[in-house]
Amino acid sequence: MVYPVAVYGHPVLRKVAKEITPDHEGLSGIIENMWETMYKSDGIGLAAPQVNKSIRLFVIDGTPLEDDFPELKDFKKVFINANIVERTGDEVTHDEGCLSLPTIREDVKRPSQITIEYLDENFNPVKETYSGFAARVVQHEYDHTEGILFIDHLSPLKKRLLKSKLNKISRGEVDVNYKILTPLPVIKGKRR
Ligand code: NI
Repeated sequence: MVYPVAVYGHPVLRKVAKEITPDHEGLSGIIENMWETMYKSDGIGLAAPQVNKSIRLFVIDGTPLEDDFPELKDFKKVFINANIVERTGDEVTHDEGCLSLPTIREDVKRPSQITIEYLDENFNPVKETYSGFAARVVQHEYDHTEGILFIDHLSPLKKRLLKSKLNKISRGEVDVNYKILTPLPVIKGKRR
């Protein structure tokens, strides 16, 4: 099942998500649906808050980009209750997009290396260090579980310049090939 994706302005994107336990209701189905939703919308990562579930879970499949970023080779993982324990390396800038911020792409500065502790889909504890684009994607998705969006890393000026685009997104006035969940129901033919 493909979930609708919550877009900018939806309050679930601003909540700090809660940890889950192995007996979380319907967990394997949620993970399966998140993969389906991510592939349907051509994303390389998706966090549970983006599908209106405020839980500490995200999925990443970076393999479509492995030709450009070798560090993403075979990078397909489920992250549960993740915690970034170390951010090291130089700050590097690269453009990012987000399924919750359709039409927006901006340069974002992030540390080039991180160490993260998480549980895999079988709730086995894992501690790994990622660098390069893998570190970027993980930080982006991890941010979602903390209620942070990539535009929060932009300068106040840059953010102000995006204001009208952001308002449009929150009203659902975007042309995307996946179903979205706006903060308020969109009333056909009526402007709020
Ligand atoms: Ni995102």
